[in-house]
Amino acid sequence: MKIVNFGSLNIDYTFHVEEIVRPGQTVDSTGEQRFPGGKGLNQSLAVARAGSEVYHAGLIGEDGAFLKELLEKDGVDCRFVRQVEEGTGKAFIQVDACGQNCIVLSGGANRKNTRAFCDQVLDFFAAGDILLLQNEINEIRYLMERADEKGLTVVLNPSPMNEEVTACDLSRVDFFIMNEDEGRMITGREDSKEILAEMERRFPQAKVVLTLGEKGSVYAHRGERLHQGIYPVEAVDTTGAGDTFTGYLLAHMVKGDPMEICLERAAKASALAVTKAGAALAIPYASQLL
Ligand code: RIB
Repeated sequence: MKIVNFGSLNIDYTFHVEEIVRPGQTVDSTGEQRFPGGKGLNQSLAVARAGSEVYHAGLIGEDGAFLKELLEKDGVDCRFVRQVEEGTGKAFIQVDACGQNCIVLSGGANRKNTRAFCDQVLDFFAAGDILLLQNEINEIRYLMERADEKGLTVVLNPSPMNEEVTACDLSRVDFFIMNEDEGRMITGREDSKEILAEMERRFPQAKVVLTLGEKGSVYAHRGERLHQGIYPVEAVDTTGAGDTFTGYLLAHMVKGDPMEICLERAAKASALAVTKAGAALAIPYASQLL
């Protein structure tokens, strides 16, 4: 069973601020760093660092060669990472004194995927393989539908959440990994229990993992519920914690681990990830979880 992650690759420009800037306000940053990132890249690295094989598919500009090198260094198969004329995607990130972040994206190459390229990638994979998607590239609807028709398992992390996700035929998704805000926007329900009940009603085929911030995470499928708490740490930078969670969860699922173990490893890995600055560079290796 192969995993292909068709996702974004970004250059993250991180600005450290006391407090996240408010509308109309101008603030000085206390430091500035450039990091590799992108929800797609982060999740592929997390799968690889958790010890599973993954193919990454996506687009970079000339300025993004170092992103591909980073993925390759950790053993991610990058035969479907292609260079285009457009500049690499960028993320402008503020991280406050508590480690919380907010992000502005500039899609760049991430939004230049063609259907021909999507088909070329999917042609390499077969029924039973897994397609992992986030929402930082164009053509997610097409990818989801084509992959489902081919019998691939579609895993969706609907982040960042917007109308491009709600415009998709989400009945094609086999597995949702999402946070409460994303769950609210998909279901229109407020409370986490109601979100999960509504997900089950609308998408009875799908498994769901809902992350609940400090309350941990819950797995839900056909009436079954499994809860996982968090590992409390001092947060330095929360950027990429969700990506680490998703990558670790998936990596352990394909290893055939029981869902309790998958959730526990994902919780540990994402806790470690927030103790370091940056997204991709903060993703721990499996050995560090011990
Ligand atoms: O999830 C974190 C990621 O979101 C960052 O690396 C940034 O690139 C944005 O895509």
